[in-house]
Amino acid sequence: MAENLYELLIAGHTVWLVLAWALVTPLSRFGTLAARRRLRAPTAMMVLHVGMILLVAGIDSAGYDPRTAAIAAFAFSLLAFIGLAQILVFWIALPRVGVRVPRIVVDVATAVVSVIALIAVGKRAGFSVTGLITTSAVLTAVIGFAMQDTLGNLIGGLALQMDSSIRVGDWISLGRDQPAGQVSEIRWRYTAIETRNWETVIVPNSMLMKSQVIVLGRRQGQPEKLRRSVEFHVDFRTPPTEVLEVVRRVLAADPVPGMASEPAPHVLFLAVRDSYAAYCVRYWLNDLSIDEPTDSEVRVRVYFALQRAGLAMSIPAQTLFVTADTDERRDRKQREEHARRLAAVGKVDLLEPLSAAERERLADQLQHTPFAEGEAVCREGADDQSLYMLVRGEAAVQIGRGPATREVARIGPGEFFGEMSLMTGEPRSASVVAMTDLDCYRLDPEVFRELVRARPGLTDRVAEILAERREALESARDHADEQRKKRLETAKQDLLGRIRGFFSLPD
Ligand code: CMP
Repeated sequence: MAENLYELLIAGHTVWLVLAWALVTPLSRFGTLAARRRLRAPTAMMVLHVGMILLVAGIDSAGYDPRTAAIAAFAFSLLAFIGLAQILVFWIALPRVGVRVPRIVVDVATAVVSVIALIAVGKRAGFSVTGLITTSAVLTAVIGFAMQDTLGNLIGGLALQMDSSIRVGDWISLGRDQPAGQVSEIRWRYTAIETRNWETVIVPNSMLMKSQVIVLGRRQGQPEKLRRSVEFHVDFRTPPTEVLEVVRRVLAADPVPGMASEPAPHVLFLAVRDSYAAYCVRYWLNDLSIDEPTDSEVRVRVYFALQRAGLAMSIPAQTLFVTADTDERRDRKQREEHARRLAAVGKVDLLEPLSAAERERLADQLQHTPFAEGEAVCREGADDQSLYMLVRGEAAVQIGRGPATREVARIGPGEFFGEMSLMTGEPRSASVVAMTDLDCYRLDPEVFRELVRARPGLTDRVAEILAERREALESARDHADEQRKKRLETAKQDLLGRIRGFFSLPD
């Protein structure tokens, strides 16, 4: 056998190996990056092979038996051949036709083929490697023990490949507060993750199998996207509805690159903190590699949108406001508030006939009551009797509930509402809902009744408005009744048709 091998070497085995190497090396340019990197191992094997041949020649000429060196030379050449074949098939040919075999599968296949080849060579040369392993319990135990972790990693890597729970290109993190990174490769021993800080984290596969792994932005059957939150702060005195509207509008009008349009971003009012109101934009990012740049772009948009709307961003600050509450200051504040209320009274047509003194008195009794868009100032059927004067915004008068809600009228600045319950003592005849943010002043029922008693002239105007409004309400209700009757009739006819059809009765 040894002679055969020896002859094989002499008969040009080395030449074939060098030729194969010389062919694969330039071809590796056409393969993937791995093709060039992986050339190192077969090259080293080839060099070892040539070294062994020289040794064989040396031993032979010295008159000793060169058998062992020849077998080693043969084994090295086999490993070199297997390495070159692997490069040619998996890293040059298959990638060219678009087939990519996971690296770990290639590694394991190569390792298995190499071990089989070595066992075969060993066997032909007279060693029984399998026998050695099976007969030596100690050796088996030692190998088993040494391979424990390696096997865990290997099986882990293969399992990850097979169930596709983690794939090359995925963004993963090993825990909520652990840095996230993109999986760059899954090898037989470890999985490499590249972080945004230009680090590569090497995670043993067995660890990936045992611990919790968060795959970012992935959900079964859905395109990749990740929710991000960008907080911003605005002066707490700015009405939140205004801030939300400004930011929503700018994000909808001109979406930021990287931000998914579906689901649409949310703009939320988070809290009022020490010195500012906190808001946040929650949006969906569809390119996970540009998370912070996209956050920054969102902040820039928000900044400019707020600037255009005349709303300043605010920063967390710790300021101690020390204001001496002097009599003079209190008077000034009261005067300012009084002037605001007087201006509100001046805007309401109904109160035009009042004298200056009456207006002054009335102004003192008003209560500032702002409402946010969508809020109901009063609800149909409710038992309260305040009167409201609207000085800013628009409100809708509605009857009915849910899908049966009907709008009866709109109320704008300078108009009042709530007079019906006040004058008749009946529950609210309709709901009044803010269509925009509202600035209202509320008047207690007793104050208004007093006013009407003192100024009977007002009753005519109130009665006139009340009659008009009631009339509009009644006709809206009649219309709703008619429609309901029509719907009932249509439903009845439809059912009748079906019943007749079912019993095959004539129409
Ligand atoms: P009140 O019934 O106290 O509460 C609901 C209020 O809606 C009602 O008083 C009126 O002020 C107002 N309202 C009802 N109908 C109309 C209408 N047609 N136009 C304007 N306002 C109305």
